[in-house]
Amino acid sequence: MSNYAIILAAGKGTRMKSDLPKVLHKVSGITMLEHVFRSVGAIEPAKNVTVIGHKAELVRDVLSGQSGFVMQTEQLGTGHAVMMAEEQLAGLEGQTLVIAGDTPLITGDSLKNLVDFHVNHKNVATILTATADDPFGYGRIIRNQNGEVVKIVEQKDASEFEQQVKEINTGTYVFDNKRLFEALKNINTNNAQGEYYLTDVISIFRQAGEKVGAFVLRDFDESLGVNDRVALATAENVMRRRINKAHMVNGVTFQNPEATYIDIDVELAPEVVVEANVTLKGQTKVGSESVLTNGSYIVDSIIGEGVVVTNSMIEQSTVKDGVTIGPYAHIRPDSTLEKDVHIGNYVEVKSSTVGENSKAGHLTYIGNARVGSNVNFGAGTIIANYDGQNKYTTTIGNNVFVGSNSTIIAPVTLGDNSLTAAGSTISKDVEKDAIAIGRSRQVNKDGYATRMPHHPKQK
Ligand code: UD1
Ligand code: MG
Repeated sequence: MSNYAIILAAGKGTRMKSDLPKVLHKVSGITMLEHVFRSVGAIEPAKNVTVIGHKAELVRDVLSGQSGFVMQTEQLGTGHAVMMAEEQLAGLEGQTLVIAGDTPLITGDSLKNLVDFHVNHKNVATILTATADDPFGYGRIIRNQNGEVVKIVEQKDASEFEQQVKEINTGTYVFDNKRLFEALKNINTNNAQGEYYLTDVISIFRQAGEKVGAFVLRDFDESLGVNDRVALATAENVMRRRINKAHMVNGVTFQNPEATYIDIDVELAPEVVVEANVTLKGQTKVGSESVLTNGSYIVDSIIGEGVVVTNSMIEQSTVKDGVTIGPYAHIRPDSTLEKDVHIGNYVEVKSSTVGENSKAGHLTYIGNARVGSNVNFGAGTIIANYDGQNKYTTTIGNNVFVGSNSTIIAPVTLGDNSLTAAGSTISKDVEKDAIAIGRSRQVNKDGYATRMPHHPKQK
């Protein structure tokens, strides 16, 4: 029988105190909704329906092309939200997973186990539950003397006795698809929050004498429902530990995994070394034996093998094998550093290609440039690529020696093997093998310094 899935993502998330819908807050680089959607993928649903409402278009964008959607124009509760999915799922034979979009830590394995358990026990409904040290805020699982689940009671509706119960509803369930929509016709808003609670279908099934079960998660962490930013930070911590552990198991060395921030889609080859306070974001990939030292911050970039990044920032760029960067360098978007390039302290590269084995050791700006191989940039070189309105390209050939403190005014070309004298302002093309001197000649005036106020004779 087929599996179906309904993801609840219509709520505002009032307790987040945010303009952004709750399920679009990110954990380790992707939205909570994407985490949930990825885990749901493990049960291979024949149909996915995401219930959207508050700022629906923003939420839809995240899963567009991957999920079906239904609108819940008024957020009248989780039961009401599931009813909206009836138009897409009514009459289908099979089981339907219902999951809240604010539980980013539930794994695909747990969802698979839940569905298997549900099918094997021939239940009409199976609740994914967990045991909480502090169950406050969650719906409680109420069992009878035989240990059978009879109902779920929400925090705000729970008696003092029920509030003692530590088994909580994770907000994830599997239902017989047809029976789910039948039972939903019988829920009402007679509760503390005046909402249609999805959780009420459990007692409805029980009263009809149908088989309801609970599948208990071993790891409470997975069940975390994020309702505020405190829980969001907790989710991030748990996810970070999972991500970093997976990398360590895979052969990556961490100086301090508790203080290393790696987004979920980042790929690290074995033998990478990551020091503390490193942040790797987005679609970053790092090749084997590269070392990322303390403070490095890398976004959406491809880093080759044997690269050393020392306390530097790299964004949307490609860094080939053997490159050394930093300390305190900034590689800005759309740059490529070919093999064995050296970018030293206080160097900024933007929208540029730097050829093999070229070096900019200190205090240099390389912007909108095509730089050949074996080029040396002297300290303090600036490419003036911007006239206030447009950006212009600079082309630098192979083996060029750019003298210290050169200002290269784009658009301009420096031919192969050419040299610019230190302190030059270069505004004309330089031929291959030529030296360009773009500065005024030095004049020395003998004895003149004796007249100046700094001179010992004047004191
Ligand atoms: C819900 C459960 C509670 C469980 C907890 C687990 C109910 C009544 N309660 O409570 O038993 O312990 O999750 O985290 O179901 N949503 C809609 N439309 C609505 C209301 C909510 O789409 O009208 C969505 C929200 O966007 C959210 C999810 O449903 O993704 C859960 O809603 P939330 O308000 O967070 O429910 P909880 O109070 O956490
Ligand atoms: Mg919640």
